[in-house]
Amino acid sequence: MAGGTHKMAAKIPNTLLIGAQWGDEGKGKIVDVLSREADVVIRYQGGSNAGHTIEVGTERYVLHLVPSGILHPNKICVIGNGMVVDPLALVAELRELAGRGISADGRLFVSDRAHLVLPWHKLLDAAREQGAETGVRIGTTQRGIGPAYADKAARLNLRMGDLVDGAMPALLSQHLEARCREMERSGVPTPEPTRILEELAQAAEFLRPFVTDTVTLLQQAYRAGRSLLFEGAQGVMLDLDFGTYPYVTSSNPSCGGVCTGTGLPARAIERVLGVLKAYTTRVGAGPFPTELQDAVGTHLRERGREFGATTGRPRRCGWFDAVVARYAAMLNGVDYWAVTKLDVLDTLETVRICVAYECDGRRYETVPARARDLARCVPVYEELPGWRTATTGISRFAELPPAARAYLDRLCELTGVPLGLLSFGPRRETTFRLGI
Ligand code: IMP
Repeated sequence: MAGGTHKMAAKIPNTLLIGAQWGDEGKGKIVDVLSREADVVIRYQGGSNAGHTIEVGTERYVLHLVPSGILHPNKICVIGNGMVVDPLALVAELRELAGRGISADGRLFVSDRAHLVLPWHKLLDAAREQGAETGVRIGTTQRGIGPAYADKAARLNLRMGDLVDGAMPALLSQHLEARCREMERSGVPTPEPTRILEELAQAAEFLRPFVTDTVTLLQQAYRAGRSLLFEGAQGVMLDLDFGTYPYVTSSNPSCGGVCTGTGLPARAIERVLGVLKAYTTRVGAGPFPTELQDAVGTHLRERGREFGATTGRPRRCGWFDAVVARYAAMLNGVDYWAVTKLDVLDTLETVRICVAYECDGRRYETVPARARDLARCVPVYEELPGWRTATTGISRFAELPPAARAYLDRLCELTGVPLGLLSFGPRRETTFRLGI
């Protein structure tokens, strides 16, 4: 396969890492830790709506499009066909990485089948959110994700392969003209064509060496027995099919997205790791049964620094929801949990876990399909004693306070999935491997 300087690591099972809540579970750091053992790190869905944060020494990186494996020298990174790529954002991200001494040359491969997020997609995203024609404000990241995936499904969009193709200027100006007419009709401000075409032409020049047939590349890597790590973005509850529709993103972060977003068969996934925050957060609108609009919610937001990595928006915070985690485990066949940010709960006197919901006298053990039903669900809580001890400085799992271990044990018992990894703080070193 391409990337000749790449050395093969000890084979670990091909691993899918997914967010098991509403995104922001701390996936970036876990992917970073697992990347050390993988040969190829692959993003398969979403776009620059993601913000994967990783701290290495005194450096802090927030990756939006480039797989987190890029921070490890020699790892192959793939932007799969299921992603929607804003070429201008990708150029900016690669330039920033290069400026910080991280080169993607020869080891980042962008699918020629990945769809483009073009400037009008962002304008439409913003206009739809402001105008809220449908009466539904999703609270999107306004990165143009929904409109780009909509154009993909409507068979109206252009792809990375078109961008870097010699015929691109003519194709793009035709496309732009049609989109401008449509936008004018719906009262959305139209973009300035000359500038857009110029910027995209420059981006095409810059990105051309990275664009390739990643389906073939990944098939070769798979057949050669390379260790693959699939880096999910967002989370199961934001999945277009399984999330709290319509308050979702427009892709499939769940396991099905891997096959459609890479061109690999389902059996290529050998292990599924679900990432869970020790409590719950959500950005944007939509039902969130365990949300806390009180002092505890504020405490979690401040202590957990719960502000969006992409938009800076304050995140809504609440107790751990075992119904959501169980649902994510069931849909994805989660083998292990990676639990993050347990230390955020350190000072609380008691902690709560939602074990079921109640609505109109009915008990729900799983997530109902209709967002309006979920919005009316009242959580059934179990209360556990807090540990009131700092867990940040501990260096061994056995040093965890008994109440913190009891909390984790209960979380695993309620979801039927064992703990595989535990992470405290954003730095690489504060991660404990258990079952994996
Ligand atoms: P979009 O993906 O920008 O269309 O946004 C749709 C919904 O998904 C909104 O509620 C966003 O806040 C949420 N969302 C999108 N990406 C992320 C993410 O990476 N983390 C958390 N929430 C996200």
